[in-house]
Amino acid sequence: MDNKIENSKILVTGGAGFIGSYVVEELLQRKPEKVVIIDNLIRGSFDNMKSFIDHPLVEFIEGDIRNRDLLEKYISVSDYVFHMAALRINSCAADPKEGFEVMLKATFHLAELCVKYNVQKVIYSSSASVYGLAQNFPTPESDNPYNNQTFYGGAKLWGEQLFRSYKFMYGLDYVALRYFNVYGVRMDTDGKYTEVMIRWLDCIRDGKPPLIFGDGSDTMDFVYVKDVAKANIAALVSNVSDETFNVGNCEETSLIELLHTLLKVNNSSLKPEFREANSINPVSRRLADISAAKTKLNFEPSISLEEGLSELSQWYFKKNDQKKLNHDSYR
Ligand SMILES: NC(=O)c1ccc[n+]([C@@H]2O[C@H](COP(=O)([O-])OP(=O)(O)OC[C@H]3O[C@@H](n4cnc5c(N)ncnc54)[C@H](O)[C@@H]3O)[C@@H](O)[C@H]2O)c1
Repeated sequence: MDNKIENSKILVTGGAGFIGSYVVEELLQRKPEKVVIIDNLIRGSFDNMKSFIDHPLVEFIEGDIRNRDLLEKYISVSDYVFHMAALRINSCAADPKEGFEVMLKATFHLAELCVKYNVQKVIYSSSASVYGLAQNFPTPESDNPYNNQTFYGGAKLWGEQLFRSYKFMYGLDYVALRYFNVYGVRMDTDGKYTEVMIRWLDCIRDGKPPLIFGDGSDTMDFVYVKDVAKANIAALVSNVSDETFNVGNCEETSLIELLHTLLKVNNSSLKPEFREANSINPVSRRLADISAAKTKLNFEPSISLEEGLSELSQWYFKKNDQKKLNHDSYR
């Protein structure tokens, strides 16, 4: 099955990012001819690429997917494309024009060029955001997307539909993956929209009570980043095309349960403090039905929340210690 990757030239947009860097690592284990990464590093980093930046088969291009000529240069010599570069949900809301250029216009150029140069398959990173607050739980791919209220979710859905229509019109093979709540080592720890678990790890480190805004009953479906990378590889090597799959853990975890697990894996007895919700979360519940990915892609998430949070905690505290060490040595 893996022979699709062996000796192939593969482009990964956003390959310096959180999930993209794991996809590159997975690809390199399967003897590709070359892996090219295009990333403008607005969120990605050399740190994420530490394990492969000097690999002889990897070429890193610090560039923008809005640059059509750059895309053409690399798509023209690619067999497969993983399209992962995107803005975050809040960045799209803060600047919809930029959201349009990155999420829609650049994705349109990418699809055009993949047709022009006969790319064999595109794996498109979509999102559970397409559902907004879903109607059914667990949520199957057939749940309708009309409850989505975000530019980001709309843009991801449009991307799915773009590839669908290009399959219909031009025969471009693709698979779209709707990731649920991805977490793990290398997730953004300093960004403006850093996930709640990183803030709680700060509290555990400092011995301060972790804060929960609202009653903690909102739920998410947390899937570990390495499992998401494996789903990407499975989508490429399978013979499936023109399909969209949920990628989650198929476990519904409330914020309060998440905190308890995080405290447990860190042997912490801190008690949470509750604060009034400071914003209304229009998506109070998430739970993926992943039976389609299991059946058609052979995808099976393998990392439990406890294992994942434990790995994340160890990495984060080590990173903190390193930062402190560097800071102290400059004094
Ligand atoms: N992390 C999640 O929970 C999650 C959930 C659903 C979907 N996704 C999707 O998965 C993909 C990867 O997400 P991630 O979590 O790794 O995010 P990320 O921000 O770490 O990775 C995205 C990468 O794209 C790069 N990028 C952004 N705009 C670019 C541009 N104009 N030109 C070139 N590079 C650009 C960024 O520098 C970054 O390295 C994205 O498409 C995202 O929308 C992520």
